[in-house]
Amino acid sequence: MAIQTIKWDKGAVKIIDQTLLPNKFVYLKFRDVKDFWHAIKKLQVRGAPALGVASAYGAYLGIQHSHAKNYTEFIRELDRVIKFIGSARPTAVNLFWGLARMRAAAVNNKKKPVSAIKKELLAEAHKVYEEDRAICRKMADYGARLIKNGDVILTHCNAGALATADYGTALGVIYRAKEQGKRIKVYADETRPLLQGARLTTWELMREGIDVTLICDNMAAHIMSQGKVTKVVVGADRITRNGDAANKIGTYGVAVLAKYHKIPFYVVAPVSTIDFNLSHGRHIPIEERRGEEITTIHGKMLAPRGVKTYCPAFDVTPAKLITAIVTEKGVFKPDEIKKIR
Ligand code: MRU
Repeated sequence: MAIQTIKWDKGAVKIIDQTLLPNKFVYLKFRDVKDFWHAIKKLQVRGAPALGVASAYGAYLGIQHSHAKNYTEFIRELDRVIKFIGSARPTAVNLFWGLARMRAAAVNNKKKPVSAIKKELLAEAHKVYEEDRAICRKMADYGARLIKNGDVILTHCNAGALATADYGTALGVIYRAKEQGKRIKVYADETRPLLQGARLTTWELMREGIDVTLICDNMAAHIMSQGKVTKVVVGADRITRNGDAANKIGTYGVAVLAKYHKIPFYVVAPVSTIDFNLSHGRHIPIEERRGEEITTIHGKMLAPRGVKTYCPAFDVTPAKLITAIVTEKGVFKPDEIKKIR
């Protein structure tokens, strides 16, 4: 997979600026944690697993030049950085999971000098990155078993290489099925308001030579009724113990439509996306974004100035609408997901 969404480069985090795709392919370099926080907030780097990797590197960015004289001072500084990065986006639990990994690495090495703890933290961030690459491929192996030659898959948002270190969750399954020689077609929902489907999913699928057709979100019901979709495959930002799954706004609607049309609905997500602390999807914090994301496109007003808006960025698909959840540990019925713990 040629797309490297995020990487560490000589004291800096490098990311593809996803707000510029598909028109420009540009890497941005961050040395400062405040600037990197804005990049996360603006969705220059996005997608739950990629946010896990980003938060780990972000935590290191925040302490790499620390002058802390001892562990107590250092962990206080790290906690401040962790809290700061955690405030960038609330829904994708991977962001908090990456931060928790970094904190644990510091605690586990507390006996070492601060300079050595810092080295351990960079090593931990690299580990999070490498693990994500391996986990995506494992999910792809399991998920591809569900895909048949000739399947037509509808996907929502972008759960591909751009949403992970480099391979994808839902799209990883499609890549693997293609590598296995299966003939597959994909419908990509445009995914209003920020168009991750139109801008990112189509871009990366076309690069990989996958037959993709872009539709507006409100066309999904029509094409399903015509029998044009055989499976729905999406990613997730947070899955609760009962198997409810938060994903990009609009996913719930697609799941309702899939149920009505008797189309299997699969969620592909790493175990790091499961929030074992939450019992039910209604407890998932849903990010609300600025109304301008609905009222404007590229700075141009689409709606009357001053119109009221409501802009939730995610919704929750109830477990009963999900056929199965594909993880790196295997394929689970939503009500079995709690067993993974
Ligand atoms: O707001 P975004 O673009 O970060 O939302 C991303 C999604 O909803 C993805 O579908 C999800 O993170 C799964 S990514 C493998």
